[in-house]
Amino acid sequence: MEIAKLKERFCEIFGEGETRVFIGPARVNLIGEHIDYNGGNVFPCAISLRSACVARKRDDRKIRLASTSYPKIVEADIDRLEEYKTLEWGNYQLGVAYCIMQDGHDICGMDMLFDETVPHASGLSSSAAIEMATGAAIAALSGLDIDPVRMAQLGQMAENQYVGMNCGIMDQFASEMGKKGNAILLNCGTLEYEYAPFDLESRGLRLIIMNTKKPRSLITSAYNTRRAECEAALADLQEGCDAEYLCDLTPDMFAELQTLITDPVHVKRALHVVTENQRTKDAIACLNAGDIEGFAHLMIESHVSLRDLYEVTGPELDAMVEAALDQPGVLGGRMTGAGFGGCALAIVKEECVDSFIENVGRIYKEKTGYTGEFYIAEIADGAGEYVG
Ligand code: GLA
Repeated sequence: MEIAKLKERFCEIFGEGETRVFIGPARVNLIGEHIDYNGGNVFPCAISLRSACVARKRDDRKIRLASTSYPKIVEADIDRLEEYKTLEWGNYQLGVAYCIMQDGHDICGMDMLFDETVPHASGLSSSAAIEMATGAAIAALSGLDIDPVRMAQLGQMAENQYVGMNCGIMDQFASEMGKKGNAILLNCGTLEYEYAPFDLESRGLRLIIMNTKKPRSLITSAYNTRRAECEAALADLQEGCDAEYLCDLTPDMFAELQTLITDPVHVKRALHVVTENQRTKDAIACLNAGDIEGFAHLMIESHVSLRDLYEVTGPELDAMVEAALDQPGVLGGRMTGAGFGGCALAIVKEECVDSFIENVGRIYKEKTGYTGEFYIAEIADGAGEYVG
C-alpha cells in the first residue's frame, strides 16, 4: 500500500491525529550463505521491498498492532511482554519490544499499523524487515538512542529467544545497516563490516530476484537442524584445534582435520561452510578487481555447494537456477537466504532481461507447476524513519 493510503488506514483504525512512518527493508544476500551463524563473511544488501510501520504514541502501557494483511488487532501489555510468544501474528514486533526492554530501556505505549511489499516466506527476510521497522518506531517514539548494530542484535535476539528461529545476524544487520547502491561485507564473527559499491547498472547489468513461490513450510526446524549439525561438526573439530567458529578454518586446515568429524553428514555441512566463506572472500576480491564475471561464477559455485553439501535448495530453487543459467546474457545466479524454496538471484545483461524473465518463467512453470515471480532488485538504505 502507498504510504499516504497507509496513514489514512491507520487513522481509520486508531483515530485521527499525527502519525510517523518507519521503514524496514528486505534483503538479498549476494554470497556467503548459511555461514553467518558460523562466524563467516557474508555479503548482503538491503533492497527496496520493505515493511512499513505507521505509528503513534499512546499515553498508557499498551501496544496495539494492526496489519494490512491480518484481520485482527493485537493488543499487548508492555509490562507482560513475555506472554505473547505464540501469537499467530504480532510476535516479531512484540519480540523486538521485549528485547529492547530486556536491554534496559523503557518504552512507551503505541499503536502501530504494518504493511509489507516484501512477499512473506520468500527468503527475502520479511521478518527482519518487520523487526527493524518495529525497532525504528519503538526507539523514535520512546526517545531512545540505540546504536544501530545493537538494534540489529536485538532483532536477532527477538527471533532466537522470542520467535524460536535460531537465525544468525545477517538479515537484521542488512536491514538495519543497508546503504543505497552498496552491499555490506560483514564478518559475522567480529561484526566488523564495510560497504562495497555494488553497481551493476553502469556495467549494463541487472540483479534479478526470482521467487519460486514455493511455500516454505517446516523451514524453522530444518534451519535449526542445519545449525545444530554445524555445532556438532565444530565440537568434533575442536578435539584437534582451538577454532571458535567453523569459519576460523581455511579449506586447507579443514582438509587436514576433517577426519575428526564423526558423522559423514556433518562433514558435508562443514565443508560447505568452510568453502563458502572462502568463496565470499574470493568474490570480494573479484569485485574489487572489477571482475563481475568472476563474482558471478562464484555465485554459481555457491549454489552447487548449497545444493549438494548443505542440501537446502530443493527441486524448485534448482529448477529456477538451472533455467536461469541456460539463458543468454546471464553471468551467474544462486539461491539466496535460508533456502528450502524462497528466492534465487541472477545477474543478467540489461538487454536480455525481458526475454530472461519470459523464458525462465515458462521453463520453471513447466518443470514445477509453480508460477514464479521476478523483480529487478534496487539496493536501498537501511531501516529508519520515512521522509515522504
Ligand atoms: C536466514 C537467516 C540468516 C542466515 C540465512 C542463510 O535468512 O535468518 O541468519 O543464516 O538464512 O544464510
